[in-house]
Amino acid sequence: MKAVVLSEWGGVENFSIQDVPKPIIKADEVLVKVNAFGVNPADFKTRTGITPYSKKYTHPIILGWDIAGVIDEVGSDVTNFKTGDAVYGMVNFPEPGNAYAEYVASPAAHLALKPTTLSFEEAAAAPLAVLTAWQALTEHGHLKAGEKVLVQAASGGVGHLGVQLAKALGGYVIGTASGKNEAFVRSLGADEFVDYTQNTVEESLGDLDLVFDTAGADTIFASASVLKSNGRLISIAYAAMDKVLTMRPDIHAERILVHTSGDDLRTINKFIEDGKLKITVSQVLPADQIADAHQQLESRRTTGKIVLTF
Ligand SMILES: NC(=O)c1ccc[n+]([C@@H]2O[C@H](COP(=O)([O-])OP(=O)(O)OC[C@H]3O[C@@H](n4cnc5c(N)ncnc54)[C@H](OP(=O)(O)O)[C@@H]3O)[C@@H](O)[C@H]2O)c1
Repeated sequence: MKAVVLSEWGGVENFSIQDVPKPIIKADEVLVKVNAFGVNPADFKTRTGITPYSKKYTHPIILGWDIAGVIDEVGSDVTNFKTGDAVYGMVNFPEPGNAYAEYVASPAAHLALKPTTLSFEEAAAAPLAVLTAWQALTEHGHLKAGEKVLVQAASGGVGHLGVQLAKALGGYVIGTASGKNEAFVRSLGADEFVDYTQNTVEESLGDLDLVFDTAGADTIFASASVLKSNGRLISIAYAAMDKVLTMRPDIHAERILVHTSGDDLRTINKFIEDGKLKITVSQVLPADQIADAHQQLESRRTTGKIVLTF
């Protein structure tokens, strides 16, 4: 099969398309013939070789976690999927997912049936980002209807799904991005928009119940400052929460790591099927343009998601 192989940790020049053996599945796994795979910032961070994730790989290094495709083979212990099912999921995160490939072996527990309303490209764009947004807002953020929630970087891969899920859960939602993304963020259902290049959130906002910060060091202290006492700050891109809590000891501040879950995807499927959650794919690229995809992600200027196909 064809796969995008990284010859060594470092820059995008180390990527090439190569023929590699098809994976052999274990009893609890299925083999997915991949129609599209997604990319996330975690991919380029892993590519550099400096993240803890990088140490878990052996050669040939195949990056990526997000896939959508059709089941080609089913392990002997798998009862909930059959050959021919269209599925999507985040495979094995944060262990190697080997997703930049024509075939991927995935634990059945990491997949869900693809909603029929989603294309394979949209489904491949979703898993890591949508699981992150869902777990941040519900499992960690405990968002309740009527609460005011700020989503920092509302136009990004995670943020654009966070805005829609927060809205679907009954929140009053404020999103931040630069002005070129205002119409997009409002189209997702945001009640208010703050252009961070023109205004600070501290000038515009205060007394919020929840902040979902997907932007990181640039925004985290502003995020903390606009919460009410006992408000919740859930971060995915900034880890030094002790510094945040020194500034605002009266809030709950937590950095989370997404976990894989076919069950969460099945819950999320209902929002997709009800039309409350749309996945924005800004570009579909051929697999041999993986370097371009990584470089665009590293710019931190992409809107929605980029996916690739063989
Ligand atoms: N901990 C976890 O489990 C987890 C899970 C997923 C992602 N992450 C991390 O979370 C971060 C976001 O991921 P992502 O996939 O959503 O990234 P992304 O798609 O690359 O985010 C890009 C977006 O961020 C916006 N942005 C950049 N700087 C901003 C700022 N200062 N204020 C407001 N918006 C800003 C940009 O809008 P403009 O172009 O308008 O500036 C752009 O649309 C990454 O660092 C990623 O590694 C962590």
